[in-house]
Amino acid sequence: TQTISIGLLGLGTVGSGVVHIIDQHQDKLKHQVGCNVEVKHILVNNPDKKRDVVLNGARLTTSPDDVLNDPELDVIIEVMGGVETTKDYIVQALQNKKHVVTANKDLMAVYGSELLATASENSCDLFYEASVAGGIPILRSLVEGLSSDRITKMMGILNGTTNYILTKMTQDGAAYDDVLKEAQALGYAEADPTADVEGIDAARKIAILGTLGFSMHLELDDVSIEGISNVSQEDLEYSKQLGYTMKLIGIADRSGDKVEVSVQPALFPENHPLAAVNDEFNAVYVHGEAVGETMFYGPGAGKLPTATAVVSDLVDVMKNIRLGVTGNSAVLPQFEKNLKDEDE
Ligand code: NAP
Ligand code: HSE
Repeated sequence: TQTISIGLLGLGTVGSGVVHIIDQHQDKLKHQVGCNVEVKHILVNNPDKKRDVVLNGARLTTSPDDVLNDPELDVIIEVMGGVETTKDYIVQALQNKKHVVTANKDLMAVYGSELLATASENSCDLFYEASVAGGIPILRSLVEGLSSDRITKMMGILNGTTNYILTKMTQDGAAYDDVLKEAQALGYAEADPTADVEGIDAARKIAILGTLGFSMHLELDDVSIEGISNVSQEDLEYSKQLGYTMKLIGIADRSGDKVEVSVQPALFPENHPLAAVNDEFNAVYVHGEAVGETMFYGPGAGKLPTATAVVSDLVDVMKNIRLGVTGNSAVLPQFEKNLKDEDE
């Protein structure tokens, strides 16, 4: 039986979930793809750190070369975060003909098109389902399940950390700083949570959704952004008294040729479906001209939900390796137009 060898960049919240799922679901993976999968090398900062994960023979290293240049590795899973160095590592991996799976929205929102083109030039897969809405398979749904439709609007709760904070402040009267610390301890927040609370993480995600949903190249700069760091306990209490719930919402709206993309706190009546999305959960509403209204719901952050998306991408890569093909419909959207062209 063929064995597909994996290298990991990072073994934090998501990386340890990936190792756990590969270990626990080995039989299922073998049954689905018809081959074994083993994790060989894992790049970390500190190999002496105590880790709550069974490594099953995988070797920790601080040398990127051990992962990026090992000719025996077929797939690199990038779950270390960061942008510039990480981009260099991914380019190196692709140029070494290794398929890549990433959970990194910071990277994909800025360099997504460039990296997808590099993957394509090297006949490699680059999949990134985990970069938006954690365990919800929203990217696949847009580019596969809804591929025949013309998407007109996407709106959603796209950041687990801020939804957790707003939920606990609203329901329990908890203090902002305390709940942010809880979200960090639970592994929902980014290494620097500024991107979460200032709406930048949600903006990256709505830019990725807009790019795929509208087949249009949208970047972080195209998104108008307001986060929740200025929301007070009084704002939330007053909203609640009036029968509203505050949520941080990402919206991508296209009307004719005009596209607007934003992230902002918004008030929803208590009976609105988005008002019932609590804690770290995410929800994405998608409107298509033909399908009408659809809604996707699930855990938007955290170890195992996010790792599920990463390992599902890995399964797709492994199937492609077995079939001797690359790519799925998510790989390189054919852009209808560039938003910037419209402003000119
Ligand atoms: P994390 O817990 O901080 O883990 C990062 C891992 O990468 C650690 O193992 C760290 O090593 C290693 N690392 C970081 N920089 C490195 C470098 N320059 N060289 C070598 N190793 C390095 O992060 P995470 O929460 O798992 O997130 C990972 C990625 O997934 C990020 O892009 C994040 O945005 C994305 N993501 C996270 C979630 C979530 O819920 N957490 C959900 C979706 C997407 P040490 O362990 O030795 O420190
Ligand atoms: N920090 C992110 C969030 C992780 O809270 O949603 C999932 O992308």
